[in-house]
Amino acid sequence: MASNFFIIFAVLSITGVVDSFVKLECDETSVGQHGQQSLLMCVIKPEQNDGIVNIRVVTWRKIGDEEPLLFFHNKPNFVPGYKFAESSWDESNMNVSLLITSTKVADEGDYMCEVVTDSGDDHRTTKLKVKARYRQPTISLVTETNTPNAHSALICTSEGGYPKGELRWFDENKVEWTASSQLEVKKMDGGLFQLSSTLPLLPLSTFLRYTCIVFNSSGIKEDETSFEMPQQYKKDPEAPKNSIPPSNVIAPVVVIGSLIVGLLLALLIYRRRSQTEARRPSTTPLVGQWREVRRNQGDIEEGDTQDAE
Ligand SMILES: *[C@@H]1O[C@H](CO)[C@@H](O)[C@H](O)[C@H]1NC(C)=O
Ligand SMILES: *[C@@H]1O[C@H](CO)[C@@H](O)[C@H](O)[C@H]1NC(C)=O
Repeated sequence: MASNFFIIFAVLSITGVVDSFVKLECDETSVGQHGQQSLLMCVIKPEQNDGIVNIRVVTWRKIGDEEPLLFFHNKPNFVPGYKFAESSWDESNMNVSLLITSTKVADEGDYMCEVVTDSGDDHRTTKLKVKARYRQPTISLVTETNTPNAHSALICTSEGGYPKGELRWFDENKVEWTASSQLEVKKMDGGLFQLSSTLPLLPLSTFLRYTCIVFNSSGIKEDETSFEMPQQYKKDPEAPKNSIPPSNVIAPVVVIGSLIVGLLLALLIYRRRSQTEARRPSTTPLVGQWREVRRNQGDIEEGDTQDAE
């Protein structure tokens, strides 16, 4: 009898059925705001209605880390900044969730929770995603630029966000100029991002007002700033009207002018010729055609046939 029981126990252990007296239920994913508390939710569920479960060991570790963040065996041991969400457990409360007191970008990742009870063991993984909101952008005007023909450039900067976001440019008519800009993404201390976008300003396409909008990684607008161009840019100081040398203007005028004259001459000659041609040989066929029409009409209206010739 004893050996039979042992064999059954061993088979159940291998297939994991013995663990089924308790079940650990965890949220698949949680989202934490940078600098705030994050909760990684896990609760032990007894699999028997009358089952009283006593928790022996609870371990929380971040996958990839050597040391657990939290370890409970008679009393809790923890790394500062990580604790159990509930300070004690009993039959009615087996909430073994992990609380991160101030979430950092480095906390993002997968976590493993393992429990050992007098009614069996279980373990689950759960994922933490971290988010941080980008701060309101700042815009500055610089007169030094690497872009040829650009007289100046606007630089828009927004930082403190996570994950990677985007900066977009619009003029006062809400026309987008992002395609002409260049985005630079830098990682700041602590893993948050700094976005910086440079928009070169060209003499003929400089507008009165520019707006820079920061979008988070889901493509949702987070904040915006507008910039009014200084007075001297409002009237195109470098408009090319007077800057082209006269010789460059005259050459195309001469070429286009002689082309037009040539075309007019060709048209005149063509019309003369077709008028003289039209007068001479086409007289006879025209009369013939007229007779033909008369004859056809006569075929249809039978009463007229005798008068036709
Ligand atoms: C677990 O405890 C935390 C902290 O008290 C609470 O916010 C959460 O709702 C609890 N979860 C469940 C499933 O009871
Ligand atoms: C983007 O912003 C929206 C609205 O504020 C927010 O609901 C969403 O969670 C944000 N996404 C990210 C990845 O930050």
